[in-house]
Amino acid sequence: MLKGKKILLGVTGSIAAYKSILLVRLLVKEGAEVKVIMTPAAKDFVTPLSLSTISKNPVLVDLFEENTWSNHVILGRWADLMLIAPLSCNTLAKMANGICDNLLLATYLSATCPVAAAPAMDEDMWKHPATESNLDKWRGIGHHIIPVERGELASGLEGEGRMAEPEHILKFIEEHFFLKKDLAGKKALVTAGPTHESIDPVRFIGNHASGKMGVTIAEELARRGASVQLIMGPSKIEMPGLGIKVQMVESAEQMYRASVAAFPTSDIAVMAAAVADYTPAHVSEEKIKKSENSLVLELVKTKDILQSLGEIKKNGQVVVGFALENRNEKAHAMGKLKKKNADMIVLNSLNDTGAGFGYDTNKITIFEKDGTELAYEKKPKQQVAKDIVDRIVKMLYV
Ligand code: CTP
Repeated sequence: MLKGKKILLGVTGSIAAYKSILLVRLLVKEGAEVKVIMTPAAKDFVTPLSLSTISKNPVLVDLFEENTWSNHVILGRWADLMLIAPLSCNTLAKMANGICDNLLLATYLSATCPVAAAPAMDEDMWKHPATESNLDKWRGIGHHIIPVERGELASGLEGEGRMAEPEHILKFIEEHFFLKKDLAGKKALVTAGPTHESIDPVRFIGNHASGKMGVTIAEELARRGASVQLIMGPSKIEMPGLGIKVQMVESAEQMYRASVAAFPTSDIAVMAAAVADYTPAHVSEEKIKKSENSLVLELVKTKDILQSLGEIKKNGQVVVGFALENRNEKAHAMGKLKKKNADMIVLNSLNDTGAGFGYDTNKITIFEKDGTELAYEKKPKQQVAKDIVDRIVKMLYV
């Protein structure tokens, strides 16, 4: 994803500087051209030789080296992104206040590209009001802070302030600066979570769906530029950010109404909710008292949301459904694709361990209306969401 991108990495004096070697390796592996500038203090933690070997570029430390002046203005203009990792408390304070007493600071003040930093500090320094006010100033300039992580700190204490792991830094910058916004201008509708069908004022029929897969897909669609409306059944999982509009519903009927209302203006609909197939024919207004030895509930079919959208779908709209099966998986998935007039069915097999409800991983097979069948490995749900959205993008633009 970083092929041809120019990244200027600033390394400051912090114990976390040793991780910058791995960070440079990851950036180079992703195709980026990396130039490194170190503060003089950083040299006590990692050698310029290691970083120049890995980055395949000379490492700069001083404004003047052997009678030559390092042109910080050109360096600042060369980069697509200036990344400071680790960012020490001292360098943060200087940057926030425009102090310029080394090459890294001079280059920072000359940089015309976006700037991001991964701070590294002990928890007490991280939470000190002076640091907080410097961070606010820094953010106010429009720079990005890559969240610190919890864990063992240089002091030996446990807490918040560790520099983000290099893999997380890479992910952050890819998502914030270099991700293709291939869904910009598109609108997406996603259903997620279970539904609750009321029996009486205190009881309901529900299922074990967590909503994780649907929320992760909504996030991936938003990350790629779509404006997303998430229609969410009762779920305890954290609601997504990224500007996603969340509409909470309880029952299958409410989810149906919200989906049908949003669909006509949507380019994409992903039906990831585990909608109840049946709902009580009558909801008792009073709490049902325990009396007889058995209780018979009459259930009636709910409206199939996916099928309803499939019926009113217009050319250019992409409708995606899920199928959770435990036998004759392929036949059932293909059956749902056809019956519900979907463009794509994502099959989860209950026979695969680590797939389906409640897990952070999933293993899927995608069936598309032109007969394409794609089986994927078991992966974290974020990767699965990427795979699904890749197929949606392909379908939208053919
Ligand atoms: N679905 C829906 N509305 C319903 C039931 C299901 O939109 N009332 C959608 C789900 O969100 C999913 C797909 O249909 O995308 C398949 O759901 P699933 O429960 O696997 O299939 P059903 O059609 O309900 O069939 P069965 O339960 O018999 O397998």
